Amino acid sequence: NKTNNENMAASLHAEKLLITTMPLMMLAMYSCMIAILWLGGKQIIIGQMLTGELISFISYIGQILMSLMMLSFIFIMLIMSRASRVRVAEVLDTVSDLTDKDSDKELSVESGDIEFKNVFFKYSKKNENYILEDINLIINKGETVGIIGSTGSAKTTLIQLIPRLYDADKGEVLVGGRNVKDYSLKALRDAVSVVLQKNTLFSGTILDNLKWGNPDASTEQIEKACKIANAHDFIMSFPDGYMTNLGQGGVNVSGGQKQRLCIARALLKNPKILIMDDSTSAVDTATDASIRNELKKNTSDTTVLIIAQRITSVYDADKIIVMNDGKIDAVGTHEELLKTNTIYSEVYYSQQKGVA
Ligand SMILES: Nc1ncnc2c1ncn2[C@@H]1O[C@H](COP(=O)(O)OP(=O)(O)OP(=O)(O)O)[C@@H](O)[C@H]1O
Ligand SMILES: [Mg+2]
Repeated sequence: NKTNNENMAASLHAEKLLITTMPLMMLAMYSCMIAILWLGGKQIIIGQMLTGELISFISYIGQILMSLMMLSFIFIMLIMSRASRVRVAEVLDTVSDLTDKDSDKELSVESGDIEFKNVFFKYSKKNENYILEDINLIINKGETVGIIGSTGSAKTTLIQLIPRLYDADKGEVLVGGRNVKDYSLKALRDAVSVVLQKNTLFSGTILDNLKWGNPDASTEQIEKACKIANAHDFIMSFPDGYMTNLGQGGVNVSGGQKQRLCIARALLKNPKILIMDDSTSAVDTATDASIRNELKKNTSDTTVLIIAQRITSVYDADKIIVMNDGKIDAVGTHEELLKTNTIYSEVYYSQQKGVA
């Protein structure tokens, strides 16, 4: 931020220089011209100079003045670029505070068990309050776990600790029985697929985009993943099928189609843990249910975490976590929570009303 301000100050300074020097330079240039014309005119009148000579003299002088102006422009540009250079260097030199140099490079994730032990987390060291407070949680491999909670209740923050997009400030996060810091980032992220809330597709064909999840995937694997994600049918309905060009950021497909492509892409890694952060929000309830069914049938070893706003997206999960303001309010099955948890039952009944 400091450098950004410096950057702005420098360009402002340069612009100011430009504003004052430009008219000055123009003034100098045109006074030169006038002087030459005046003197030259006199010379011609007394017959000491030819008109042609004067004209060529003027054009030479013009060129020299022009190049002087260019030089001063270069000088101003240099001033401007100096600030940018500092900033670029700073960005390039930034070392991520997430490093895996102490990790065991040979270690790979054995199972999709997840455990949170007294985890505290905040985004900024300056913040007094923790965003996540004292999270204790055990998720066994192969389980499907729903996460429900109002916006800003730190659902996304919670799951970001699993693939180490951030590190916990206190406490530890374990995957497959080992602290996430024990694994190399590559090993960990190969085992944990996250479909982010704000997911992106790239320009290129559907196939290119899917292969980004796993460059070595075979056609069969790709089709299987797409069938699980309920994407195969709509892909085949396009005239070019898997070779359909998506355009910049996937503008050619609908929101729900995009989400399903992202799920398929995440599945291609054959992850031990699959996290879907609001990934079926734009998909209709029936398709949503069908995706969950297919997931259950085909990936029984994979731990699936589903963050959702709709109760219908999580009610059949093995357990449901209710988040409230950075804390776990309750964990249980749909039936248990409906009876015992006020937040959950309130959300449930308000959504039921919407249906009826
Ligand atoms: N990158 C960030 N930097 C600083 N604060 C953040 C950042 N991301 C989220 N927060 C804060 O953390 C809190 C929890 O945010 P989080 O994204 O985890 O909520 P959420 O439960 O996923 O909400 P939603 O349902 O809207 O996705 C919010 O108060 C938010 O302001
Ligand atoms: Mg979120």
